[in-house]
Amino acid sequence: MRGDRKLIGPFVQLVTMDHMPLRGPLSDNDLEIIPEAGIILKDGRIELLGRYAEMRNTGISVEEVAGDVVVVPGLIDAHTHICWAGSRAEDYAERLSGKSYREIAEAGGGIWSTILNTRKATSGELTEHTVQRAEQMMRQGITTIEVKSGYGLDVIHELKILKSIRDANERTTADLIPTCLAAHIKPHDFNGSSLQYLEMIVEELLPEVRTRNLSKRVDIYVDINAFTVDEARYYLTEARNQGFDILMHADQFTKGGTRLAAELGVLSADHLEVSGDEDITQIAGGSVIPVVLPGASLGLGTGFAPARKLLNAGAPLVVASDWNPGSAPMGNLLLQASILGIYEKMTVAETLASITCRAAAALKLSDRGIIRTGFEADLVAYPCKSVKELFYYQGNISPVYVWKKGLQVCSC
Ligand code: NIG
Ligand code: FE
Repeated sequence: MRGDRKLIGPFVQLVTMDHMPLRGPLSDNDLEIIPEAGIILKDGRIELLGRYAEMRNTGISVEEVAGDVVVVPGLIDAHTHICWAGSRAEDYAERLSGKSYREIAEAGGGIWSTILNTRKATSGELTEHTVQRAEQMMRQGITTIEVKSGYGLDVIHELKILKSIRDANERTTADLIPTCLAAHIKPHDFNGSSLQYLEMIVEELLPEVRTRNLSKRVDIYVDINAFTVDEARYYLTEARNQGFDILMHADQFTKGGTRLAAELGVLSADHLEVSGDEDITQIAGGSVIPVVLPGASLGLGTGFAPARKLLNAGAPLVVASDWNPGSAPMGNLLLQASILGIYEKMTVAETLASITCRAAAALKLSDRGIIRTGFEADLVAYPCKSVKELFYYQGNISPVYVWKKGLQVCSC
């Protein structure tokens, strides 16, 4: 649509997500809703919002939508691991029969088995898998997707994965935001300590990632069976000194991570299933964005992160899918956010903010997540009459239209 203008609509409701606080609880009265609305798009951006009937009289070319449709900002998934090869259906079946994630990992399955399969795959194969998963997400209305490496765990394979994510970004209409998760676990075939592995990554991998501009973000998994708080402190400090934004997988099975997150002021602390009241206060009192991952709780059959308490404490809560072959194999953000919402008593406004405007902040993207003049025309339209229906169907509602940078990419 480069260079030309068009009007899209009419929308029964246009939910802008504009003029809302970025932190803390939200009431549904905070939602800015324009009824019977139209949007004028120009050069992939939003030019004007208003009443469809009035805009239509201006003679502008029109892309009319059919039926009752509610439009919201394109959804943003701020935490995924969608660049992998192989399947962990065997692991899942073992979990169904009572084995824990940790037991499976200790027996050689889990993350390590995905690393072996991902190392074997070619860069082209990984690109293809990533494109397919991203396109599936686009059809669900997710127009921006963070994608972590972390299934290579040596210099060559981590670079291969980050390059595959970059190639996939060229081939899908979704925007993929890459994150280096070389500090996922200590690889079983590394000859040395966990700290020595991290030192190797700091010296040999991160400078390459910077030079080749493969990612601006560095993540680490802090937990039992992964890295300790002290190891993470060293690693994240070095990564920050090299110019990366830093983030963490924290408090999934064991506590300690969020305290380091607050101490370092990381961009986001993700998971938080076992965070306690003190951790919540620390996170909410600082700049760290909490990203909770109900898909991992559903995939592991464990409790949800304390989303309500985080909101009440004033945190800018984000919900993401964590889509990966192990802990979170589902990959359905709307469904997961809906389920978390009913268990944690999150309002429609809080849940929608957690996958739009607040998720944009977790990726430091200031041009999306809100329907506002000048912002990217990333939009998703659902077949319903009210935004309240979005979570009511608990994920069993699909978009009828998705626009990415003003282009209709899916008339689903
Ligand atoms: O965020 N917990 C660590 N990493 C991923 C799971 C990766 C996997 O199981 O393959 C997560 O849940
Ligand atoms: Fe994750």
